[in-house]
Amino acid sequence: MTEVSLHHLNKSYDGKTAVVNNFSLTIPSGQITALLGPSGCGKTTLLKMIAGLLEPTEGDIAFNGRSVLSIPAEKRSAVMVFQNHLLFPYMTVAENVGFGLRMRGEKQAAIADRVSEMLALVKLPGYEKRKPKELSGGQQQRVALARALIVEPEVLLLDEPLSNLDAHLRDEMRDLILGIQRKLGITTIMVTHDQEEAVILARNIAMIFEGELQQFGPPVDFYERPLSERVARFFGGVNFVPGEKQNNKMVTALGEFETIGCSKENGAHLLTIRPENVEILDQSAPNSFPARVLSRMYVGTHTRLKIQPETAVTQPIEIITDAAGIHTYQETQTVYIHFPPDKIWLLSN
Ligand SMILES: Nc1ncnc2c1ncn2[C@@H]1O[C@H](COP(=O)(O)OP(=O)(O)OP(=O)(O)O)[C@@H](O)[C@H]1O
Ligand SMILES: [Mg+2]
Repeated sequence: MTEVSLHHLNKSYDGKTAVVNNFSLTIPSGQITALLGPSGCGKTTLLKMIAGLLEPTEGDIAFNGRSVLSIPAEKRSAVMVFQNHLLFPYMTVAENVGFGLRMRGEKQAAIADRVSEMLALVKLPGYEKRKPKELSGGQQQRVALARALIVEPEVLLLDEPLSNLDAHLRDEMRDLILGIQRKLGITTIMVTHDQEEAVILARNIAMIFEGELQQFGPPVDFYERPLSERVARFFGGVNFVPGEKQNNKMVTALGEFETIGCSKENGAHLLTIRPENVEILDQSAPNSFPARVLSRMYVGTHTRLKIQPETAVTQPIEIITDAAGIHTYQETQTVYIHFPPDKIWLLSN
């Protein structure tokens, strides 16, 4: 079991701009951690530094507390599966998968056994003799995974493992990665720009913007306790109402709202509530305000409503109701919008 810790990592390619900036994080052993962020935020750069394929400009990387900076990639026991899976085109599947063991000088017969084992693990038994060009994208991805796992690394680094796959293959690969990780208990760090993928696969998520760590924790934190408006928006947050916190209420242009469990200091904050947590009432009640239905969108499993508050000119509030909501609510109808106190979250403004 290997814990990976990053200490004040910095990386600059040109000696001027920091692509990774003062990045410190302890990645727990034996579970999947996702590095999540928009394109260009430095995810692949981070992964390459952990793999030993890139040197940090400053800072340290340690496996179980021991610095690995002086250990070259091939001895580091961290194997990276690349974004574009990079199989050797002229080698068969068996030769690709067995590559790491041949480099170590292991015997041919032993390699063949391990290759078959690995191909069974990634659900490609009997594919030994094929060439990469005779495989689908999803199959190539799985061969790349088998090639990484055969050397029994302590740390598995996956760069966008699902990005080149269509929806059906994605689900399959997702289940495969989860199954293999559970079976081998290997410390897995995966890079993705897709929050849904991170939520489904990872025990913890590290959210990154412009090379800086924004928030680290279990997926539920990013929905219920985001640390900034930007993180909240990345996870589908849409409702933000500025106001003033006065003890356990928020005073806003829409009215006053009782809050529970927001241990923020008094003063200016941004009230946020997820669209699926906003309730619609028939009559006025505490923590509610009158509003008009602006627009409705039926999305099959649910209905999205945009609501214009009547008490103040603000951004429309978005609400997700069940699918039947499309029939229940009419455009221009007046409703009472309720923010349940325990569903309100405050962000520092
Ligand atoms: N070899 C390089 N030389 C110079 N700049 C680079 C190099 N590799 C990456 N960069 C730059 O560093 C930044 C981070 O790149 P990186 O590949 O780590 O991003 P990423 O988060 O993996 O993005 P994506 O989701 O698009 O793969 C980008 O601005 C990129 O242009
Ligand atoms: Mg990348």
